[in-house]
Amino acid sequence: MKTAIHGKHIVLGICGGIAAYKSAELLRLLTKAGANVRVMMTRNAARFVGPVTFEALSGKPVCTDLFDRTDPDAAIRHIEWAQEAHGVVIAPATASMVAKHAHGLADDALSTFLLAVTCPVAVCPSMNTDMYLSPPVQRNLEILKKDGHLVLEPGSGELACGTVGPGRLPEPPLILDRLTALLTRKDLAGRRVLVTAGPTQEPIDPVRFISNPSSGKMGYAVARAAEYRGAEVVLVSGPTSLDLPVNVRTVRVRTAREMAHAVFEQMDGADVIVKSAAVGDYRAMETAAHKIKKTADELTLTLVKNTDILKSVGLRKTRQILVGFAAETRDLKENAQEKLEKKNLDMIVGNLVGHPSSGFGTDTNRVTLFYRDGGIEPLEEMDKAEVAHLILDRVCERLP
Ligand code: PMT
Repeated sequence: MKTAIHGKHIVLGICGGIAAYKSAELLRLLTKAGANVRVMMTRNAARFVGPVTFEALSGKPVCTDLFDRTDPDAAIRHIEWAQEAHGVVIAPATASMVAKHAHGLADDALSTFLLAVTCPVAVCPSMNTDMYLSPPVQRNLEILKKDGHLVLEPGSGELACGTVGPGRLPEPPLILDRLTALLTRKDLAGRRVLVTAGPTQEPIDPVRFISNPSSGKMGYAVARAAEYRGAEVVLVSGPTSLDLPVNVRTVRVRTAREMAHAVFEQMDGADVIVKSAAVGDYRAMETAAHKIKKTADELTLTLVKNTDILKSVGLRKTRQILVGFAAETRDLKENAQEKLEKKNLDMIVGNLVGHPSSGFGTDTNRVTLFYRDGGIEPLEEMDKAEVAHLILDRVCERLP
């Protein structure tokens, strides 16, 4: 999957804390995301996890000392690495490193390197709760924020020292997520994006419902991509088991009627609306108050039509860019173009479903974009995150 991290030079700075073992997992994730990672460790970090581990995972020498006699280039490396870096992440960042950098102290390889850095920096403090909450550490973290660095909130829980509270290094996938957001261009800054995702459930009785196999992956990918690109995002989500995207206001709903209500409430403030949810077209006319017993050989359910949310939004919309999805098993072009027209959309994402690597529940998708002016853009099969960014690229081209 290609994200803002792909192909970028990232420097991972590791300080001496018990959480240094998690840096190995972070390095693995960064490398998997296509980053070219160089590791810089403090001497104390090397007491917790050996540089050899990071050398093996990054495939490159690890810098621990500016005056390494076996490495004549070490003294100039910190400047070279600082100039080449697209992003820097300090994980874990100890109280000592936070203090040094907040006050411009350069007395080891990492603190010296940091002073020469001009690219975005993410600082991930991790330490004992009382140390973390102490006034000097909080003051220094504020200085780093004012200097434009991203300071990640540590996680809360039981720490290695036995105390319970904030101080844990955030999990590596979360650090990767925030670093990716930090390095993504902010072409949706100042815009509000409303996204729908997942299935709806239309109850028949208290234990049964009508639904579909939507996992929410496509819609969550759109919400996450819009947040990375600087938008204020509201996600209206049907029932899913996915982790909620960070920094996104999520409104959880169950039925199509609840989804309609949430969308109508949110749509006026939105600049962009992307409706990737698989909304139930019908609901049971009556919901039984108690579990229906299987006494009869046949059971007839009467279904009534749900509101077509997208069509109503299309009728009500003013300045918004409106993107619909069309999940089809055949005649994709005809069906998608008909929905584009009927629902007054700016663009529709035609999704041929029922394929093992495309559509419901998959990590990848194969879609064709249909535009209001008649344009058609078939896309290769790609990760849903990449599809999401491509949809938003096209939205950005159309925003006033
Ligand atoms: O969630 P995943 O597992 O990642 O799967 C992704 C997906 C296949 C669900 C997604 O890519 C997709 O195709 N979503 C649209 C599914 C769908 O309901 O398509 P449709 O052709 O039935 O509906 C057309 C459009 O009208 C959709 O934008 C839908 O949100 C909207 N609609 C439909 C019915 C209704 N009552 N109200 C609506 O707003």
